[in-house]
Amino acid sequence: MTTTREKERTRSSHLPFGDQRDSPFYGRDIVSVRQFTDEDLRYIFDVAHEMREMVSRIGAFDLLKGKLLANLFYEPSTRTSASFTAAMERLGGSVIPINEVKYSSVSKGESLPDTVRSLEAYVDVIVLRHPEEGATALAAQYTKKPIINAGDGVGEHPTQALLDLFTILEELGEVDGLTVTLVGDLKYGRTVHSLARLLSRYEVTLNYVSPDILQMPDKIVTEIEESGTPQAVHTDLESVIGDSDVVYVTRVQKERFENPADYEKVAGAYVISPETMKLAKERMALMHPLPRVNEISIDVDDDPRAAYFRQMEYGMYVRMALLALVLGKA
Ligand code: NCD
Repeated sequence: MTTTREKERTRSSHLPFGDQRDSPFYGRDIVSVRQFTDEDLRYIFDVAHEMREMVSRIGAFDLLKGKLLANLFYEPSTRTSASFTAAMERLGGSVIPINEVKYSSVSKGESLPDTVRSLEAYVDVIVLRHPEEGATALAAQYTKKPIINAGDGVGEHPTQALLDLFTILEELGEVDGLTVTLVGDLKYGRTVHSLARLLSRYEVTLNYVSPDILQMPDKIVTEIEESGTPQAVHTDLESVIGDSDVVYVTRVQKERFENPADYEKVAGAYVISPETMKLAKERMALMHPLPRVNEISIDVDDDPRAAYFRQMEYGMYVRMALLALVLGKA
């Protein structure tokens, strides 16, 4: 197994100009939002801003030329895998996509530790999506290369939460003082687990709107309580939408239900329509990690408050920043 200390030891002391391998991010894994300090968050967002600027000025550049990323996805993905690919390629690096693990040696019974150990021989960084909570933390113990959690079952999705927070900052200019309402599948939705944890470091009020069987897990509510963040549980969105600065809608995670009949009972529990948006503040952000199934009507897409497609674009800048940082460049 590879400890953090061993990862540290793989750092070289002979570095070309431009490397910042003494930066606190070099060689680090990104497993949970809980690992970041306030300083880390400011730094990531500053670099993400620079990435946005660079992309708008020159599109792509060679900061990570010669570097290789393995996109190891054991669960479906459109945005996360594509945005890591776009991020890496805009920085001049390359990507080995391993999207369909059924065509790889995983289908022959290879263990996750063996898979990541093998990939580390080829690549400089691994992005992992896996159906089991804790998979990234486990895999990280077996590779010296940085590994980034792109969703571990119902656990966390830290890079999504970072891009969600970056979106809030870009759309509304600040986080402190906001009321953020998380809607939908708060039980199985890993994006809201990471986002609630991340937001609890700021002066926010959190509302949870979900069907009874899809409430935010107790362990997260308890953690957030310890931070002193006010939290309130609701079943109906209408009662809180008018006070919300951010409404963050999630898909009911059909694939995580043990009993399909339970899914049918709660699918379609919340649908944001132009009528719903009439109840919302004039200045607010309507967000969604996507994919949406029916939670937000397409008639809302042209509302200036609908931020979900911009959210995806911000995600590329945040992922560019993270890749540059863990690979020792910024
Ligand atoms: C989310 C995920 O995979 O957790 N998608 C994403 O990464 N943007 C949300 C979802 O699948 O509902």
